[in-house]
Amino acid sequence: MYKILSKKVLNPTVTQMDIEAPLVAKKAQAGQFIILRVDDAGERIPLTVAGFDREKGSVRIIFQIVGATTFKLNQKQEGDYIADFVGPLGKATETTGLKRVCVVGGGVGCAIALPVAQKLHEQGCQVDSIIGFRNKDLVILEDEFKSASKSLKIMTDDGSYGQKGLVTEPLKNALENGAEYDEIFAIGPLVMMKFVVATAKPFGVKTTVSMNPVMIDGTGMCGGCRLTVGGETKFACVDGPDFDGYLVDFDEAMSRGATYRDFERHAYEKTCNLFKKEVE
Ligand SMILES: Cc1cc2nc3c(=O)[nH]c(=O)nc-3n(C[C@H](O)[C@H](O)[C@H](O)COP(=O)(O)OP(=O)(O)OC[C@H]3O[C@@H](n4cnc5c(N)ncnc54)[C@H](O)[C@@H]3O)c2cc1C
Ligand code: FES
Repeated sequence: MYKILSKKVLNPTVTQMDIEAPLVAKKAQAGQFIILRVDDAGERIPLTVAGFDREKGSVRIIFQIVGATTFKLNQKQEGDYIADFVGPLGKATETTGLKRVCVVGGGVGCAIALPVAQKLHEQGCQVDSIIGFRNKDLVILEDEFKSASKSLKIMTDDGSYGQKGLVTEPLKNALENGAEYDEIFAIGPLVMMKFVVATAKPFGVKTTVSMNPVMIDGTGMCGGCRLTVGGETKFACVDGPDFDGYLVDFDEAMSRGATYRDFERHAYEKTCNLFKKEVE
């Protein structure tokens, strides 16, 4: 059992938790993820390591409440326990030798982008960050990004905070104005990553994306997380989650991502109803 050391609501649909997991904390690196089960009957879900404290033995997760399992996890409080917390899994983000990068995060993808920005900042790399949200109420991790970045641009779809527009707009401006990035890291919805890659391509800047297909075992056994990258089949859990954005088949990933939508909606409705009955 793994204890929830702290719980913080970051916005109405995004929660941060620190979990006591010393063995995971000891080895975790930016870009890796864990797989958890809320209880013995629960499904396994992957979440990125959003931070860790090796001395305290804690690992931070930040999750958006999108369905049955994240809903159940969000019902847990500080001091409660979750059944399983396995990791770190996947490859760490490769940051060696980078001098100037742009980190682009979208929505809850910012929770995955932040440790990458922090790691690069700590190793002396100049980090320009661009983070985007649908509106002001959904903005998360602004102060944390500020501390890890030389410059930070916040974009909202409706202009209610920061600048109105998409994350690709300031990125395109920076590239047109001659920003010399060694690499761009894009982490967020598939469609956002697809268009960040399309923006970067004419300038020839290497662009790394973090892929989040449905995962089951997280160890390369089930094939659930397969993607086509450069015409070859890759498993996001062991070959990634980071991939060269120029080579990823985003259209296929988007179509596979929608496969279980009806089943997931049904599970979410069932879990919410069960919870409501328990409360009544
Ligand atoms: C490597 C990786 C890292 C991730 N990191 C984060 C993170 O830091 N924060 C965060 O909020 N989300 C993250 N996700 C997505 C997260 O795993 C899903 O939101 C979660 O599994 C949803 O479960 P649910 O039962 O609440 O929702 P469901 O209703 O079951 O699903 C909602 C959506 O979540 C995705 N999803 C569902 N089950 C899985 C699964 N087993 N594996 C992957 N995706 C699934 C699908 O896109 C689905 O349409 C990550 C996914 C991967 C693969
Ligand atoms: S999650 Fe099963 S192969 Fe990747």
